[in-house]
This record gives sequence, C-alpha cells and structure tokens, in this order.
Amino acid sequence: MNDFDPVRATNRPELLSAICQMGALNWAFTTKDLYDPAALRDFPAVQASYHALPPDPEPGNRLRAHSRFSLSHETGELLLMDGSDYSQSAEYNDDSGGKVRHFAAVSQEVLASSTLHHLIQIYEIIARATQPQLFAERDVTIGVHQIRYAPCGLAPAYSNPIVPHRDDERIVVVLLSSVSQNMAGDQNYLGQDRRNLGHCFRLQRPLDALVLGPDQYHGVGVMHSIDGRPAHRDILLVTFM
Ligand SMILES: [Fe+2]
Repeated sequence: MNDFDPVRATNRPELLSAICQMGALNWAFTTKDLYDPAALRDFPAVQASYHALPPDPEPGNRLRAHSRFSLSHETGELLLMDGSDYSQSAEYNDDSGGKVRHFAAVSQEVLASSTLHHLIQIYEIIARATQPQLFAERDVTIGVHQIRYAPCGLAPAYSNPIVPHRDDERIVVVLLSSVSQNMAGDQNYLGQDRRNLGHCFRLQRPLDALVLGPDQYHGVGVMHSIDGRPAHRDILLVTFM
C-alpha cells in the first residue's frame, strides 16, 4: 500500500491545523498539502475511474459507487465488508432516509489504491483525535462513496437530500477529485441549523476537502452546466461511523 508513519504524520502542521479547526468549528477545510505526495502517486488513476461509474438510480443526475471497510478495534486492520447497499436513517434524511439504496461497489483498482488508503489513514488520525469515543469499544465502519455529479444541457445535478441536513456518520470527508470548468452552482454551505447558514465556499482544486463533524448541518447547491455541454464534479466521500 504505502509507507505511512502515523507518528510522523501527526507532527505535520497541516494535520494539527485540521484537528484544531474541527475542535473549534466542528468542520474543517483541507487541501492537498495535508497529504504525502508519494502516497498519492496513483491519484490520476482514481480520478480517471469516475468515467466508468454506473448511474445512481435516484434522481439527481449522478453516477455512483459505494463500498465499506470495517476497522478492527482489536487489531487496527482494515477489512473490506460485503455488499454495497446504502441507507440513511429517516431522522437524518427526510427524503430517502430509511430506504435501502442499491449502488455498485467501488472498483478493485480504487479500493486497493495507495491514494484511498492514504486518505483513510490521514482522516482516521483526525477522526481519532476529534471523536475518540467512536473508536473506544467497537469496530468502526468506514464508508467510501465515489459520486459524479453530471449536469448536462438544462438538466441539473443535485444531492440527496437537496436541503441543509445532517449525516448519520460521525465524520464525513467530502473530497474533490476533479471538477470541469463548465460546472456552476457547486458551492458547499454549512449551518448551525437548517435555517442559519454561516459559511459557503467551493471545493475548487483537486484534493480540496470539507471535513464535517457530528451533526453538522450542510449541503451543496444545485449544479448546472455553464455551456450546456456535459459537466462533472467528482467527489470522494470517506465516512466514519
Ligand atoms: Fe450529507
């Protein structure tokens, strides 16, 4: 996979900064500077893999794949779990909560990539530092979602739910893999509740990421193509629950 040293990594200022932001705000913005470039050597292949994603059957003009790992409490080992279905609780998603959504599994190439394992290692450090109780007594489920938002012509692409919401997962990393220049409307917003939005910005460069802490209200705008030609915004979600 990669030669990652978690002790050395925690001394890096970018990582400490992300942990401090999480403590102060319950969210953080991170960039490519958080990562070891050598561990991301296969990131171009991960980016290219979005072209082969199958459609998400839900409305929203997205393509999607999903897989999960289990992080063993006893051994720290990361094990791929069976199945790629996904569901959210009705309490957190009043649109498709409680419903089982059927997604294709993430490709073996991406699941085995140095990039994905490095991202999981980095965000596991942030998750352990900010949500230690999550790791205290049981195995942690790490979700991986590849999502392509693909507006075209006058057809928008959008998230589910479309309104400000919280996620079931305790830590959610929204990482930009790639975005086309003709994409618009893709601003992320954050709020203290559904009606009080406090921050709004775009993920613009590859590896820009928004890290959400527990029960953080958030959402993303309705996306459209500026020139009508196919546009894309490719997101990798890494979640801890
Ligand atoms: Fe969400």
